[in-house]
Amino acid sequence: MFEQINVDREIFGQGENLLRCGNVMALPDEFRALYGQAQCVYLDPPFMTGEKFMRRRPYGEQGWRTGNPAPRYPAYEDRYTGEKEYLRLLRRLVGAAKNLLNETGVFYLHLDWRMAAQARIMCDNVFGKTRFLNEIIWGYESGGRSRRHFSRKHDVILLYAKSQKYRFDLTKVPLPREERRNHMARGKDEQGRMFSKIVSNGKEYRYYDDEPVYPGDVWTDIGFLQQRDPERTGYATQKPLKLLERLLLPVTNPGDLVVDLCCGSGTALEAAQRLGCRFAGLDVNPEAIAIALSRLKTDNLTVICPCGKGKAELLAGDDPESGRFRMDGLKEEHPQFPAKSTPMDNLEAWDIGRIEDGVFYAEQSFRRSFRYPELTQSLRSEPGCIRAVMTTDAAGIRRAYIR
Ligand SMILES: C[S@@+](CC[C@H](N)C(=O)[O-])C[C@H]1O[C@@H](n2cnc3c(N)ncnc32)[C@H](O)[C@@H]1O
Repeated sequence: MFEQINVDREIFGQGENLLRCGNVMALPDEFRALYGQAQCVYLDPPFMTGEKFMRRRPYGEQGWRTGNPAPRYPAYEDRYTGEKEYLRLLRRLVGAAKNLLNETGVFYLHLDWRMAAQARIMCDNVFGKTRFLNEIIWGYESGGRSRRHFSRKHDVILLYAKSQKYRFDLTKVPLPREERRNHMARGKDEQGRMFSKIVSNGKEYRYYDDEPVYPGDVWTDIGFLQQRDPERTGYATQKPLKLLERLLLPVTNPGDLVVDLCCGSGTALEAAQRLGCRFAGLDVNPEAIAIALSRLKTDNLTVICPCGKGKAELLAGDDPESGRFRMDGLKEEHPQFPAKSTPMDNLEAWDIGRIEDGVFYAEQSFRRSFRYPELTQSLRSEPGCIRAVMTTDAAGIRRAYIR
C-alpha cells in the first residue's frame, strides 16, 4: 500500500545539475549559491505580448503515437498590468544574470520588437555600455503577415560581457560557404584551390571555397520550429536547439555552467547538456519543469518542484511473476483530461527509488516520448525493495508516494 506524501526534491545520480520551479522575483537560494560561477546566462523571458499561451502536448499513448496535441488548455500567460510591472521583472532578471556570471562570462537576453529598446538601455546601465557586444537579429518566416506595416519577422538577442576578460571563440561556429554571388570573378590558385574574388582600390580580395565563413549578427538560416517538428515539446514559445547551440558554442567549454532563469521547455539546458556543460534552470511554471525534465538526460540532476495538491490513487506494486515493479496507472480527477481517459493515459513519467530526509532518490525512471509513446508498465527492482514512487501526470503535476 502506497501513501501519498509531499516531497519537493528529487535527485538523479550525483544531482549536480539543477532544474527548479520558482519565481525569479524571489530568487531561490540554490541560484544565489551559484553567484560568480556561470560562464553563460541565457534569458528568454516573456516578451510582453499580452497573450495567454496554450498547451499543445500529446496526451496518452495514442497522442504520443500520432503526435496530435490534446487536450489544449492555458499553459502560461504573458500578461502584465503594464510596462512598469514588466520592467520590474526584467530588471530583476538582468541583475541576477550579472550576479551569476564569472569574470569570463557572457549574458544573452532574447526579446522581440516590443521591449528590446528598453532592455538595451537597462543592460547598458547594469553591465556598462562598454560591455555591449552584439544585437543579434534572428529572422524567420513563420507566423502571420501584416498589410499595415512591414511584417515583424525577427527576434532580438542582446549579448553582453561581464568583463573585458570575456571568452568568445567564433571559430567554433563555422558555416558552410554559400555559392559566391555571381558578380564575383572566379579563379583557381597554384594549388588548385577555387576562389571568388573582387578587386577594390587596386587590391584583390580572395574568398576560398574551402575556407569556413562565420555568422555575422543577422541570422536567417535557423527556422522557427514547425508544428510537426520532432523537437517540439508542446510548450509554447519553445526555441530551436540549433539557435541555442550557436549561441552557446562560442562562449562555453565543456564543464562550464550555463544558467537559464526562464527555462520554459529547457532548450538552453538541453543545448548545454549536449555541449558537455553543467546547467541550472528555473521557471515559475511547474509544467515547464516537467517538460524540461522529459527532454534532459537524468544521470546527474536535482529537480526541485512542489508536489501537486489533491489526492490521486497510485495503482502499482511488485509483480511476483516477473520479479519487477509493476505500474497500472494513476487514478485522478483532472478537469482538463479527456473524460474517457484510462489511468495509464494520465501518466507521462514515473520513477522508483527511496525517500531519505525528505529527498526522493531516483533509481529507475521511465518518460514517454515520440520514441517511447507506450508507458512502460514495469521497471527492474529487487522484489520488495521499492519504497517510493514519483509520478508525473500529463499536466506535469508531480506526486510522491511511500510504502
Ligand atoms: C519565452 S518562455 C521560455 C521558452 C524557452 N526558452 C524554451 O525554449 O522553451 C518564458 C518563460 O518564462 C517563465 N517565467 C515568466 N515569469 C517568470 C518568473 N517570474 N520567474 C521564473 N520564470 C518565469 C514562463 O513560465 C515561461 O516558461
